[in-house]
Amino acid sequence: MSRVLVVGGNRGIGLAMVKQLSARGEEVIAACRRSSKELSALDVEVIEGVDVRGEQGARKLSEGIGDRDLDLVVVVAGILKNVSLEALDYDAMREQFEVNALGPLRVAEAVMHRLGVGSKLALISSRMGSLEDNTSGGHYGYRMSKAALNMAGRSLAHDLERRGVTVLLLHPGFVRTEMTGHQGLIETDESAAGLIARIDALGLEDTGTFWHANGERLAF
Ligand SMILES: NC(=O)c1ccc[n+]([C@@H]2O[C@H](COP(=O)([O-])OP(=O)(O)OC[C@H]3O[C@@H](n4cnc5c(N)ncnc54)[C@H](OP(=O)(O)O)[C@@H]3O)[C@@H](O)[C@H]2O)c1
Repeated sequence: MSRVLVVGGNRGIGLAMVKQLSARGEEVIAACRRSSKELSALDVEVIEGVDVRGEQGARKLSEGIGDRDLDLVVVVAGILKNVSLEALDYDAMREQFEVNALGPLRVAEAVMHRLGVGSKLALISSRMGSLEDNTSGGHYGYRMSKAALNMAGRSLAHDLERRGVTVLLLHPGFVRTEMTGHQGLIETDESAAGLIARIDALGLEDTGTFWHANGERLAF
């Protein structure tokens, strides 16, 4: 059994990952701003008050973890706000940077001293943050913030490699959640199963790489 922290485990893809990891016997700690009925019904530890936008959330997280080592940290928390060229909303773009790019880095900073040889840090990004994959434009803040997350993940991969920590950037697929207005190609269960399979399969030799939950390697 390993100890797993899922940040953003109260709903959507994060909740599905918490359920599946817990069902297979991992010791799961779910961090979130506020728990949900579904999360509270599970037999997992919940750390509330973890807003990834600020110092206070990071403090709550590191206090909640205490001196326990972590085998896996998954950062799922993210937001999507549609910002088009016709209506460039800089506050909405800034907000997406705070949550999607700086948030996961803040989480990494708060828990990195609890990660050691063999531990993994999985950052849920999006292929919308891939420069190579951007064939349709738009979505300014979201695409930019996930591209920045990808870069943060790549730097973390280099910086944590000497400690034996694997850092992975993962795209969950197009998933029916609140974020997508319940549009999408797959359900959260399928996405979570694919993400967990990637995390299981990939190791230090893959650190800093970007993968689709379906097993396809993605270009940055
Ligand atoms: N769904 C897709 O098709 C898709 C595709 C590509 C990538 N992704 C990525 O997958 C991840 C999960 O998305 P989802 O589809 O499951 O979305 P979702 O159902 O909207 O869930 C978003 C999660 O992020 C949390 N969150 C948002 N802002 C936060 C903050 N400031 N601090 C802490 N937690 C915060 C939410 O918690 P609250 O309840 O507190 O808001 C919730 O747990 C995101 O990073 C998203 O960008 C999703």
